[in-house]
Amino acid sequence: MPSTDSHNPTDCEYFAHDSAFIDVPCEIGQATKIWHFCHVMKHARIGQNCILGQNVSVAQGVVIGNNVKIQNNVSVYTGTVIEDDVFLGPSCVLTNVANPRAQIVRHSLYEKTVIRRGATVGANATVVCGRTLGRYCFVSAGAVVTKDIPDYALVMGVPARHVGWVSRHGIPLPDPDADGLMVCAESGFRYKLVAPATVRCMDLEEEAPLPPEMATGSILYRELKRGRSG
Ligand SMILES: CC(C)(COP(=O)(O)OP(=O)(O)OC[C@H]1O[C@@H](n2cnc3c(N)ncnc32)[C@H](O)[C@@H]1OP(=O)(O)O)[C@@H](O)C(=O)NCCC(=O)NCCS
Repeated sequence: MPSTDSHNPTDCEYFAHDSAFIDVPCEIGQATKIWHFCHVMKHARIGQNCILGQNVSVAQGVVIGNNVKIQNNVSVYTGTVIEDDVFLGPSCVLTNVANPRAQIVRHSLYEKTVIRRGATVGANATVVCGRTLGRYCFVSAGAVVTKDIPDYALVMGVPARHVGWVSRHGIPLPDPDADGLMVCAESGFRYKLVAPATVRCMDLEEEAPLPPEMATGSILYRELKRGRSG
């Protein structure tokens, strides 16, 4: 069901499968695809070129940036802000009340969770509300996030612990060389710890899109890891 209809005040064209419910008013950007059994609630704002897989729910007032990929069975609750280029893995869980009780209404007390540009939340991970997940951070599958995560941090386990740094391409970074640089095995981009818990890419502005030729994977993760360990 391609749509240019009144669902979308910005009059952009997006695709929503016939089985999806799109409440009005809401905003959905151009070229976004919304697949089977999704529900987008009113006042949600979804950017351009996003994909909402099967059974994704986007609650009232949620803000989602451009090029966000949300895998099957994810509920994005009110209070969540998702920046551009975020990946939410299948069946990951976001939350918006720290101390829910069925008897107590806390609709005005939803906590804010911010998932910053380029971050990945792995399959079946849980994010306890009120946290900020930094740019290009990587939450591994099944982790439970209970603290803010620095940019480019790789976190793992329950509770999620910071175990290393990861590149924009999702490749764990090696120990720094003599110049303090960590080179991504896939892209060759150099990263540097410029302050405690502050990694920056030295070769591309964080806001800049990846050059198209660097935006398609060609080497399996396992092969890259094998190459690194010789
Ligand atoms: C973070 C990730 C990339 C790490 O993978 P990896 O580099 O191959 O890690 P390894 O297999 O080398 O494992 C290193 C250690 O961490 C452990 N480990 C790996 N993944 C783990 C996870 N998700 N949670 C807890 N521990 C994990 C391994 O058991 C191993 O422990 P050991 O040293 O005691 O044996 C991967 O675990 C992950 O979560 N990927 C996300 C997958 C996903 O959700 N995809 C969604 C789209 S389909």
